[in-house]
Amino acid sequence: MSVLIRGGRIITAADDYVADVYVEDETVSLIGESLDMSADKVIDASGKYVLPGLVDPHTHLDMPFGGTVTIDDVESGQTAAAFGGTTCHVDFIIQPQGSSFADALAEWRAKANGKQVIDMGYHMAVTDLEEGGTLEELASLPDEGITSYKLFMAYKGALMVDDETLFRTMEVASQTGALVMVHAENGDVIDVLVRQALEAGNTAPLYHALTRPPEAEGEATNRAIQLAHLAGAPLYVVHVTCREAVEPIARAREAGWDVWGETCTQYFFNSLDDIAKPDFEGAKYVYSPPVRDRANWDVLWNAVRSDALSAISTDHCAFLWDGQKTLGKDDFSKIPNGGPGLENRLHMIHEFGARAGRVSLNRMVELLATNPAKLFGLYPKKGTVAVGSDADLVVFDPDKKFTITAADQHSKTDYNLYEGTEVTGSPEVVLLRGNVLVEGDELVASPGVGQYVPRARFGQELRAKSAVA
Ligand code: URP
Ligand code: ZN
Ligand code: ZN
Repeated sequence: MSVLIRGGRIITAADDYVADVYVEDETVSLIGESLDMSADKVIDASGKYVLPGLVDPHTHLDMPFGGTVTIDDVESGQTAAAFGGTTCHVDFIIQPQGSSFADALAEWRAKANGKQVIDMGYHMAVTDLEEGGTLEELASLPDEGITSYKLFMAYKGALMVDDETLFRTMEVASQTGALVMVHAENGDVIDVLVRQALEAGNTAPLYHALTRPPEAEGEATNRAIQLAHLAGAPLYVVHVTCREAVEPIARAREAGWDVWGETCTQYFFNSLDDIAKPDFEGAKYVYSPPVRDRANWDVLWNAVRSDALSAISTDHCAFLWDGQKTLGKDDFSKIPNGGPGLENRLHMIHEFGARAGRVSLNRMVELLATNPAKLFGLYPKKGTVAVGSDADLVVFDPDKKFTITAADQHSKTDYNLYEGTEVTGSPEVVLLRGNVLVEGDELVASPGVGQYVPRARFGQELRAKSAVA
């Protein structure tokens, strides 16, 4: 199937120009002015942006967590992603304690089988190196295209690992070319604060935020940075929320250490005011690290502008408010942690980042697509618009008015963190390897079109098949 996209404004991390894009055999084969080619499908993109399909490096689909399972499976989560212009994501396999990594991988592959709407890769979340996976098995994961290891420094009694496991995994990563990712909060300290709050009768959602203070995030971030430096492993700090965590990352980066950080869409827009909402509505905003005070919004915008933080993910970990979040009606520590976001990352960052002048359009593309692709071994197959890259493309209408509302979303959850927000600019056509996924309000492609993408080791490039010599 061939596709010709005519006259769009192509925006990559580096460039901004008007041209035609010709797609053959799932890749971009030609970019030029007024291309004289026939094609099976011609898309008029005049007045529109042509962006690379976005890459989300942080999602949790069909994941057991907090006494339940995230409500979006691979099909519904990826459908939501496609409508939001995301054509590739990297999801977390969680190694169940006592299980081998191979068993965990098989389980996650089975969940995706036949349901994939967009392309995906996997990170491996290491929870147990004693009874479960071995160091040798961990070392072999990059051969399967799983080139990042994730460790939780919080969620005591569930996913949290001790410093020994953290450091041993970092040592393996320094040998295998994997990137280490950390959820950086001090889980021991949080555990004490949670028990104290509950003993004092403080059970409302707001106490989720008050028992996970910024200092706990700052301390763990700094600890992870120092340990990764000692082990010689590259480090990526996920979902950074506050000054206390941004500062040690910025310092490490200024010193030339292999440290990167991401934040997530919600941390620019949600705050303590949301989690304090009455009638248990605050539970919608229970995710970890928690919402912070509004002063941190500017800290984060400055950080993504200055490259102290290099990516914006969604940490999509969706639960129903009615039926799942309500597990913690009488005890905030039982509210499943996580929120939805896959569908609206581009809407929100385009509106309040690019249109508001906080980041350029190029930087927006870099944060949402190019840097995630580069850091996670997907570039230049993914994350840019270039000859030889996968034809993952978003024709984006910068003038389309769009109101974000749970009533119209494709995620299965029953709320939206940005309910009622009006934006100007929305994806019009979304292509995955040249296949039209979304056109207007319609999902055109069927589940099964998406593929597993084995990722390159940290710092290495990944080329589309047709571009490999
Ligand atoms: O609350 C969150 N973020 N849930 C998903 C798991 C994680 O910590 O990333
Ligand atoms: Zn986390
Ligand atoms: Zn997460």
